[in-house]
Parts: sequence; structure tokens; C-alpha cells
Amino acid sequence: MPPDSSTPPSLPMASWLRQIARTPQQDSFELLSRPGMLSLALGLPAAELFPGEALARAAGSLSSVAALQYRAPEESLKPHVIELMSARGVKCSASQIFFTVGAQQGMSLLLRLLLDSGQEVMAEEISYTGFAGALAPHDCKLLTVPTNVETGIDVDAVEARLRNGARPRVLYVMADGHNPLGVSLPLEKRRRLAELSREFGFYILEDDAYGQLCFGEGSPAIRSFEERWVLYIGSFSKILAPSLRLGWVVVPEELAAELANVKEGSDLDVASFSQHVASAALGTGFLGKHVAALKEEYRQRRDAMERALAEHFPSGASWSHPEGGFFTWVELPRHLNATQLLRRAADEQRVAFMPGGAFSLRPGAGDNCMRLCFSYCAPAVIEDGVARLGKLLRSVM
Ligand SMILES: Cc1ncc(COP(=O)(O)O)c(C=O)c1O
Repeated sequence: MPPDSSTPPSLPMASWLRQIARTPQQDSFELLSRPGMLSLALGLPAAELFPGEALARAAGSLSSVAALQYRAPEESLKPHVIELMSARGVKCSASQIFFTVGAQQGMSLLLRLLLDSGQEVMAEEISYTGFAGALAPHDCKLLTVPTNVETGIDVDAVEARLRNGARPRVLYVMADGHNPLGVSLPLEKRRRLAELSREFGFYILEDDAYGQLCFGEGSPAIRSFEERWVLYIGSFSKILAPSLRLGWVVVPEELAAELANVKEGSDLDVASFSQHVASAALGTGFLGKHVAALKEEYRQRRDAMERALAEHFPSGASWSHPEGGFFTWVELPRHLNATQLLRRAADEQRVAFMPGGAFSLRPGAGDNCMRLCFSYCAPAVIEDGVARLGKLLRSVM
């Protein structure tokens, strides 16, 4: 029989894509586009805190040849990164800094640089969705370890797996402002992870997207304890603006040339325009004050979130106390499924959050949990959203 010409065969594509289902983020975009929806879902910086004027002035001051041409990485931006790194306890030189299209590309490029097919990769069982996305094309074996909202990744479990023969090439971790748990790792765990990476010879990908936004004193980055095996991923998205699509990685010099090859084969350059705008803006010295103001405002929003949770959520719910970043993690009784609750929250209360299962690298982890973002909404809106969620939760708990 001749093939049925009315239904063409589906177009072929890479086989790893068949394992990728629609993500909960994509689902939540549909919910968020409904009129009147109050969102505690997406992890966006507060738009009213963007340094719009400083960036516009910086853009206006650029010479068109420098900012519009294909160019090598912007050396004048590197001293600013060196200063930011020094605030995280990390010493580095200009030749170890590599600009990327946000932290997300930093992670992707490093995985491409480091992984061979069949290798093991270790991560927390609840982790940043973008890491899962970056890892997906790689044919690797994912080893998950427990984590928790109070003390973060279970380093004893990491060590036990290593001593029992696990040989990951890479461990992915967020030491500060964990997305989604909101936890910051105790100093001792940072030190131990660095020691383990040295002893067993695996790379730690330290995603520090929120590292400049610690509300208290903060602890040094993991890379401050180990310069060879810990590769640092930083971002201007949360401290300047995500639309610049500008981040950086700090790597040992011995990886720099190969990393440059991976980047060139991927997308040639980081937008020169963004690098120049950032460099000109930071050159005015405004960043210190700006970041201090961001920290203060986000700390107040975190407090507003915690006050509202204490007032409106029923007993049986518990939540993290984030020392930095954008997120509070709420645990509900085990029998509740947050993905199902999200539908009801959207339909009945017009409020949205991210269900914990969206961040699960081990099936089932976090299903009874919700991630609430406190960075984006003003305190009064946070209180309103939490009150609405509390109403729903009281009807099911
Ligand atoms: C933990 C974490 N890493 C990386 C990113 C990506 O950041 P960027 O905008 O720098 O690509 C995000 C964004 O939300 C994040 O939460």
C-alpha cells in the first residue's frame, strides 16, 4: 500500500529528546498567563529594583565600534569580576575568568567540556531544573544524594557513595540561596566537599547564581577551599539584569583553552554589547550600594513571606529560613501532592507556585512540597498570595 500522504511521518530528532516531557515550568506559563493570577511561581528578580538608569547611561556612553563589533572577551569587565569573586573569598586571575551567556550557559559549557558518555554525575535529589536541562543531552548516569532545607546536601551520603565506589566526574551544587530549597551550606560542609573533590578527583560545579545576595555575613564559596577541582559559575542576572544574559565561570587555567573551543563551537561570543554595558556601568562604582539595597529589600520580602506563612498556613506545614536568594521551600504532609494542589490554587484562589516535584531528580522527591518565590512581589502581594494558599491548604489539611 502506498504511504498515506495526508499524515507525514514525524520528523526525526535526537533520541535524548524523547525522554523530555513537558516541564512544569512550561505548564506554569499557561497558568500564569490567566488574567488576575498572583504568581509566587517564577524566580524573577524584582523589576522595580533593576538599575535601569545606570545601565541606560552606560549604554549611552559606549563607542559603537567597541560595542557593536565581533570582539574578544571584554578585559575591562574582568577586574570587576575579580572583585566580586574576592567578596566570595575566591582569588582568581583574569585568565581564569570566562564570560558566558548567563550562569545557565556556564553550566552547559562546563558539562560539555567535562563529560564523556557513560560517566557518573552526582547531584542533590532536589535541585535546580536548569541543571537537569543542561545535563539531559549527555548520556550519563545520574547519582542523587539526599538534601534538606536546614543543612543542604548530605555530605555524609556523598562520602559514603564515593567510598563505596561511585566515581562521578562532576558534582553539581549550590552553596548559597539554593534554588529551590533556599538553604545555604554550613561552612564545614563546603570545606568537606572541597576535600572530597581533591581526594577522589571529581569536579564540583559550584552554581553561585545567588551568592552575591546573602542576607547575613555569608560564608566563602566552595571554590575558596579548592582551586583545581571546584569550577565556579557566577551571574549578573540577579545583581544587574537577566536580560543582559551575562555570567562568568572561573576555571583553572589548564582548562581555559579547551573551554574557549567549546564556547566558540557553541555560539562564538558572549554579546559584546552586554559586556560593554556591564563594564561601563560597573566602572562608575555603583554596584556595592546597589547590591546592598537589593539584599535589604529581598531580606524584607523573605521576612514578609515568613510572617505570612506563620499567620496563614495550617500546622503540619513547615518551611525553610533562607539566608539568601529568592525562594522559600514549604513542606506539606506526605499525603498531599503539590502538583494537584497547584491546579486548585490556580482555579479556586488565582494564585500560582512551583510544585516541588518540578525540582526532583529522584522520582517522588519533593512531591509534597512547594517553592514560593519572595523576590518578585512586594510584601503586601506576598501576604495576599500566602493568605490565598493558606485558605486552600486549610481545606485539605
Ligand atoms: C540556581 C540557578 N542557576 C542558574 C540560573 C540561570 O541564571 P542566568 O540568568 O545567569 O543564566 C538560575 C536562574 O534562575 C538559577 O536559579
